Amino acid sequence: MCGIVGYIGERNAVPVLLYGLQRLEYRGYDSAGIAVLEKEGNKIIVEKQVGKIKDLQEYLWNKKIEGNVGIAHTRWATHGPPTIENAHPHLSQKGTIAVVHNGIIENYLELKNQLQKKGYKFQSETDTEVIAHLIEDEYENNLLETILKITKKLEGAYAIGVISTYEPDKLIGLRKGSPLIVGIGKKENLIASDIPAVLEYTKDIIPLDDNEIAILSKDNVEILDFNGNKKEKKILHVNWDISIAEKGGFKHFMQKEIHEQPRTIADTITGFSSQDINKIFSNLENINRIIIVACGTSYHAGLVGKFWIEKYAKVPVEVDYASEFRYRDYIVDKNTLIFGISQSGETADTRFAMLDAKEKGAKTLALVNVVGSSLSRESDFVLYTYCGPEIGVAATKTFTAQLVVLYLFALKLAQFRKKISKDEFDKRYRELLHIPTSVEEILKKDEEIKNIAYDYTKATDFLFLARGLNYPIALEGALKLKEISYIHAEGYPAGEMKHGPIALIDENMPVVFVAPKDYLYEKTISNIQEVKARKGKIISVATSNDNVIKELSDKTIFIPKVSDEIYPLISVIPLQLLAYHIATFLGKDVDQPRNLAKTVTVE
Ligand code: G6P
Repeated sequence: MCGIVGYIGERNAVPVLLYGLQRLEYRGYDSAGIAVLEKEGNKIIVEKQVGKIKDLQEYLWNKKIEGNVGIAHTRWATHGPPTIENAHPHLSQKGTIAVVHNGIIENYLELKNQLQKKGYKFQSETDTEVIAHLIEDEYENNLLETILKITKKLEGAYAIGVISTYEPDKLIGLRKGSPLIVGIGKKENLIASDIPAVLEYTKDIIPLDDNEIAILSKDNVEILDFNGNKKEKKILHVNWDISIAEKGGFKHFMQKEIHEQPRTIADTITGFSSQDINKIFSNLENINRIIIVACGTSYHAGLVGKFWIEKYAKVPVEVDYASEFRYRDYIVDKNTLIFGISQSGETADTRFAMLDAKEKGAKTLALVNVVGSSLSRESDFVLYTYCGPEIGVAATKTFTAQLVVLYLFALKLAQFRKKISKDEFDKRYRELLHIPTSVEEILKKDEEIKNIAYDYTKATDFLFLARGLNYPIALEGALKLKEISYIHAEGYPAGEMKHGPIALIDENMPVVFVAPKDYLYEKTISNIQEVKARKGKIISVATSNDNVIKELSDKTIFIPKVSDEIYPLISVIPLQLLAYHIATFLGKDVDQPRNLAKTVTVE
């Protein structure tokens, strides 16, 4: 977790770094800081604040700090609480080296002991501070060589940015296990944890691979491996529009991203068609089993994907939490496909699960939103969602886009393996093209859903129930609500309610049913009756004109009629809006909920 950014060029580094930090705030936001080399280059000024980037910004307002080289950091605490001392950047004892770090140095205690014996005094409880002291301790006359030497001592995962008074015309970035990109500008260059941090200055990016180090000056970027060998790297041109990373008139990024879904779904359908999926399938001809690994919202998308792949392509699918999968004695062979789903492509649990399975001989396919992300480069094959950057910590638009890709993947695989005809594929594809319009229709009910949300802001617990394909949507609805409103919520298969959760139901318990008129409709109705009989408050997501459900429910949100199989693509939208409005009424910070981070690069 954490976000880092670094700048070297002709501008004052301070506003560039603050801009970058704002774009990275989704990666952590309990404290932040900057380090800038003073113009003369013989002093590093470090300023930090506990809280959000805006607190740092306000604090820096009256301080006239100027310099053309600097690094900055937004923190999500791992070692030590969020205090000024623990905030990055960390300075070495003599103030010659400043370091920012994302990741965990696993052997930091051992290194700390060694440094303390040499007389180094530590100001913080972090694992990062050892890096600054180590560089200072080992420096003779070449910063690059010193850092290369130190990479042999550091165990764990990291992306690191370094500046130094010894060589003030350099900014160094290195990566092993945590993401880091280099932004190539004109007479200026940058490093950052993620692309939006540099978009204002350049769209030409080089994502670093593990065990690579970048040496940046104002006019040049050189990339080496940790053995000091020069690497030729391709520059990636990203065409994300900077306005996509702004709020565009909405109160929150999450609200904007919910409303972007008609476009992101349409873009993902088009984007999928532009990828040579048959080429991937011809490399996977012998695959007889798929294991989907993912975390959080991406895991829920995987659960829906299982239904589709098994239904159409007739390939058995398991879905596992990446963090659980990796540490059990799972069975894979060369005929197993590990399908990793991750918005960021950087989630450590998912990455390491995939790398582990790859090593054991399985094939790997990644579905990511971020071009050039670690997962996309580490996997044998990659598919993309086409959403642009997602800033709100709670995933929304990338979830529906993941569903689109999974649905098309299942249908295409089925067609490739001759389980469905071209006609059937075409029919389902044409229907998919109408989904953006159906989503638009639901979004028009925003005000209506807001009014429903208002009535439930005092609830302390929620149940979300559904069956079949919509059961993962119930899980997702519950996750959205708890993530951003801090209200306890549980998602459950509606049929399983009678085996436990039914005991929770009384007149204070709101129960959200996702109950479209699909093949399990009658069964769900029975479950609604069971809740009603126990005086639970029923909020239903139902197919337009379904008066039966309307009669049974306290509140009903209607969604348009679509084929049974694709309800998940639209039934989730009212739940996103419900969670959003409840959290907003409660005054919660929906874009940056407490304790969460968007990209979780620790296990
Ligand atoms: C974090 C976020 C979730 C997200 C999950 C997986 O926990 O808070 O919203 O679903 O990571 O992220 P990924 O980038 O792998 O999809």
